[in-house]
Amino acid sequence: MRPIRGSLILRVLVSTALGGLLVLLVGQFVDSQTPSMDLRSLISTELDEDTPSPSLRKFEWQARTPHPLDLRYPHSYPFLLNHPNKCDGPRGAPFLLMLVMTQPQDVGMRQAIRETWGNETLIPGVIIRRLFVLGLPPPLFTKEIHTLLKEEDKEHGDLLQVGFLDTYVNLTLKVLMGLKWMAQYCPNAQYVLKVDGDVFLNPSFLVQKVLQPNGPPRPDFITGYIYKNTGPIRNPAYKWYMPQELYLQDKYPPYCGGPGYVMSGPLALRISDVAQTLKAIYLEDVFVGLCIEQLGVKPTPPPPDTFLMFRRKYEHCAFHRLALVHHFQPRELLQIWRDFQSVNTTCPVK
Ligand SMILES: *[C@@H]1O[C@H](CO)[C@@H](O)[C@H](O)[C@H]1NC(C)=O
Ligand SMILES: *[C@@H]1O[C@H](CO)[C@@H](O)[C@H](O)[C@H]1NC(C)=O
Ligand SMILES: *[C@@H]1O[C@H](CO)[C@@H](O)[C@H](O)[C@H]1NC(C)=O
Repeated sequence: MRPIRGSLILRVLVSTALGGLLVLLVGQFVDSQTPSMDLRSLISTELDEDTPSPSLRKFEWQARTPHPLDLRYPHSYPFLLNHPNKCDGPRGAPFLLMLVMTQPQDVGMRQAIRETWGNETLIPGVIIRRLFVLGLPPPLFTKEIHTLLKEEDKEHGDLLQVGFLDTYVNLTLKVLMGLKWMAQYCPNAQYVLKVDGDVFLNPSFLVQKVLQPNGPPRPDFITGYIYKNTGPIRNPAYKWYMPQELYLQDKYPPYCGGPGYVMSGPLALRISDVAQTLKAIYLEDVFVGLCIEQLGVKPTPPPPDTFLMFRRKYEHCAFHRLALVHHFQPRELLQIWRDFQSVNTTCPVK
């Protein structure tokens, strides 16, 4: 009944025995990107029979302090690789700042993104700036990986490395430090996109149809796939487990799914501020939902079916009419990109 916990225990045993090497190897298989959150609502109905007794759970909590899902925030994590002048330039502040979440070892993923949807000069006349946000690799490998990262950064000038351990649980720190960077070095960006590395993104659709460069300013704007009427999963066997001691309420506010959401610059600044005053939780997209709720802001619905949290098979015309599809690997991005960029006049006008 408990495959996840079983494998966890095994993982702990093995990695203690063999040290950091296995931590790194296992880490490769643990998806650091935001998973599709639909499952949360799907499985929340079948939790009750499997929930351990309160006293057992209480014992579990007390046995480890602080709680492994707890975050140290606010805290001033240092920027270890930084580009303070990224947003300067003769043409002024960027229209869109892309904050792309990857892990230190995702070298191939970053390269594929640079050559596809992360290309800053894809849309004529629209200033886009891209930064990959990452944390620290597992301790044993810090030195080797840091040398590689420095080289990669020297060549591309687009890594923002922040001084905390890069794990799934720490993803919220990554997003909040990305926003903090924006507040410090790029406060006049008109829009900020938070996006995971394992997606397909259609920047033209995002810019022209969702953000609309010639439209009126929208200070309270945030959009993406909107989750409503969801709540915490209290069963520790599930990936998005949320213990009561870290989040007491039994509902989550409306929030935009983590694979990709975009907000106005002014709202990004206010989220960054209000985040300092709330208790951060490790589900990054839910936490941003809590921040905007505190600010009295509701997510704006995007054009229907344009942010897909589940994979869809590539199809030229369909992909030109959407903004984002979750679950695309680097190799697939490179495979479809040439076709996606080609002009295809057979697409029905819509
Ligand atoms: C980015 O797009 C421009 C314009 O389409 C193209 O000339 C350039 O080669 C692209 N850059 C990369 C790294 O693919
Ligand atoms: C998050 O990062 C902090 C700072 O590096 C680290 O101490 C902590 O272990 C990390 N948390 C997890 C769950 O990885
Ligand atoms: C245009 O797109 C349609 C639908 O995806 C596809 O069947 C067709 O082969 C494409 N044509 C060209 C010239 O790429």
